[in-house]
Amino acid sequence: MKISEELKDDLLSRGYSRRQMMRAAMMFGGAATALTLNPELAFAADAKRGGVRIGQNECWTGPMAPGAAAAAAVISQSNRYVPNNEHDDLVKAIAMIEKVPADHIMTWPGSNEGLARSVVAFCSPTKSLVQADPTYETAAKAANYLKTPIKGIPLKADYSHDIRTMAAADANAGVIYVCNPNNPTGTMTPQSEIAWLVDNKPAGSIVVLDEAYIHWTKDYPNNTNSHLVAAGKDVLIMRTFSKIFGMAGMRIGYTMGRPELLAKLKLHDGGSLSGQLPIPSAACATASLTAKTLIDQRRKTLMDNSAMTVDFLSKRGLKLIGPSEANMLMIDWKTKTAKEMQMAFRAQGVEIAGPRWASWPTVSRISIGSKQDMEGFFAAFNKVVSA
Ligand SMILES: Cc1ncc(COP(=O)(O)O)c(C=O)c1O
Repeated sequence: MKISEELKDDLLSRGYSRRQMMRAAMMFGGAATALTLNPELAFAADAKRGGVRIGQNECWTGPMAPGAAAAAAVISQSNRYVPNNEHDDLVKAIAMIEKVPADHIMTWPGSNEGLARSVVAFCSPTKSLVQADPTYETAAKAANYLKTPIKGIPLKADYSHDIRTMAAADANAGVIYVCNPNNPTGTMTPQSEIAWLVDNKPAGSIVVLDEAYIHWTKDYPNNTNSHLVAAGKDVLIMRTFSKIFGMAGMRIGYTMGRPELLAKLKLHDGGSLSGQLPIPSAACATASLTAKTLIDQRRKTLMDNSAMTVDFLSKRGLKLIGPSEANMLMIDWKTKTAKEMQMAFRAQGVEIAGPRWASWPTVSRISIGSKQDMEGFFAAFNKVVSA
């Protein structure tokens, strides 16, 4: 693998050995596959097809109608590399909705790509990844691959991020990763704490804010943090179309940040991956972003189905970790492991998440699906738990 002088200088200046440097360079050249870096994708590959699928935090339904129509309309023109400026249109739509300049946006085939790259770009053997425990695993997977240190800071008693402890965890931190709302708990960290972190983090570190599930939360859109990007702070915000927009299989996500921070994310490949989104996916994303009524309908459906599920489980005395504001709930079985429960539900045709968060071995994550999905889950629960 050939790496540019600029990338070599960047990696060596951050304390990579020559061997580690090659691993960093190879990470996006195919050595670490998308499957190993993207946990939901990796577990989805193993999940049983058919039945009730509430294991991967996917949306219960597909793309919104205007998005699906836009994608279908452009398929017949996809003999052209760029039929009608679909990629530029997507960036313009994001810029308008998020109120950030277009050059502060970089698209990817899924936000995992930007997340993993942020670790390569800003961490090193001497610059750690600071994150919550438990949290979404992609950043840690990238750090493990590169052998960069990880500081895992337990969530607070209310399951928000312990921002003050995270800020103090390593004076030489490279990335401070905040997943808001957090996966797997769905819990929120107050905006004021995030603003405090951005102003008080160790010099030289970057705050990576993962807002994959932000559209589901009760205060959306007033709780987003795009204004920190517009204000030129040391922040990268990750977003995805895999969740409320129902486009996980269409693979689109994006990163917002200052242009010089984004430039570091593409040192490895000159940004070529960013420019290669499938045209139907880009068209679908653009048309979905502005479908406000449909977004609000999905939010309401999620909130109703989540409340129904919380009610069902609470009445049966189950301890729920939360409150979750996203399309997931964590159930503490206390006397059974997440693996045992995954197998028991699978036998009933219901896929829930397996053992992913070592600090919580008796806790399972279920995703909130359609009303019908949740009723399927309740029926299985009655068999599994009373068995
Ligand atoms: C917290 C979080 N961030 C990012 C992603 C990445 O999603 P994608 O690569 O599909 O955009 C996921 C997927 O489940 C997630 O849960």
